[in-house]
Amino acid sequence: MATIELEKLVKRYGKVEAVKGIDLQIADGEFVVFVGPSGCGKSTTLRMIAGLEEISDGTLKIGPEVVNEREPKQRNIAMVFQNYAIYPHMTVRQNIGFGLYTSKLSSEEKDKRIEEAGKILGLSALLDRRPAALSGGQRQRVAIGRAMVRDPAAFLFDEPLSNLDAQLRAQMRIEIKRLHQRLKTTTVYVTHDQVEAMTMADRIVVMKDGHILQVGTPSELYESPVDVFTARFIGSPSMNLIRGTQASSRVEIGAGGNLLIGVRPHDLIAGSSEGGLRLTGTVTAVEPLGPETLVHLDIAEGSVIATARDKIVPDVGSQLTCATAAGSLYLFDGATETFQGRS
Ligand SMILES: Nc1ncnc2c1ncn2[C@@H]1O[C@H](COP(=O)(O)OP(=O)(O)OP(=O)(O)O)[C@@H](O)[C@H]1O
Ligand SMILES: [Mg+2]
Repeated sequence: MATIELEKLVKRYGKVEAVKGIDLQIADGEFVVFVGPSGCGKSTTLRMIAGLEEISDGTLKIGPEVVNEREPKQRNIAMVFQNYAIYPHMTVRQNIGFGLYTSKLSSEEKDKRIEEAGKILGLSALLDRRPAALSGGQRQRVAIGRAMVRDPAAFLFDEPLSNLDAQLRAQMRIEIKRLHQRLKTTTVYVTHDQVEAMTMADRIVVMKDGHILQVGTPSELYESPVDVFTARFIGSPSMNLIRGTQASSRVEIGAGGNLLIGVRPHDLIAGSSEGGLRLTGTVTAVEPLGPETLVHLDIAEGSVIATARDKIVPDVGSQLTCATAAGSLYLFDGATETFQGRS
């Protein structure tokens, strides 16, 4: 296991700066998730850590050592990609063992590691099958097994689940988390999926345009986002934003306001008339989710999503009043979009 330290790490492709000097310290055994929009530099950062991409500037340390000039195979790091390359002509055992291809371990030790990885990943009964006879999730586990047998100092995952269907993704998410709880290997995980980020991460790193915007635990990011961008990125559906003002301690909505008022759909309760802020509008769509229903509303200041509880499903086209739960508002500066506090 190892710490990973990024100090003013830069990646330039010609004149384009894809990663613009990022600082990050990852603790031994930590599970860190990178999130951010397409093109913000997540994969590039991961590839610099792996040694697959040359570092243009700055310092990368794995453990106490600067590894900028180290070859990937000298860094003792294992990477699992979205398009995992498992070989169709090899058995599961051979595919997992491929991770030890260049290793000098004895063949007994190699066999032992393959068996052990197979056991941990629930592949023991499948070791002599070929990939064609496996499900998508089992194939992804083979790719993880190949990374595991090397007993690396760190695991790097680049959207490893994005090719799987929703149900399998949810299952693999838990499996990877369990694996981490068991092995406690330092892990850096890139994803587009904010549910993966919230549920798996010890800390989340939010990136935008080659910069780090915010680093924090899932609940820190959820409760105190630095700005509108992070606030909208964490939590699903995204936070509603409405123009407004704050006079003494009262928050009021209004088109010309100098604030952006954030309300999570979960905290905007359809049919309720108590609480901090009341909104009335026309229902434009409803999404029943079972225990609750998401209600899309057009209000004078824009459109918002509210939540109806107790199996109430409002009619499309009807008028509906919603209210926020006390203390659930997020206030942002209307010009700079930076976080001002809760109300
Ligand atoms: N080989 C390359 N040559 C030039 N530009 C590149 C190269 N690889 C990546 N880039 C650019 O660097 C930026 C960051 O790319 P990167 O792949 O790290 O983004 P990402 O955050 O992983 O996005 P995604 O979520 O779409 O995978 C992008 O603007 C991309 O176009
Ligand atoms: Mg990427």
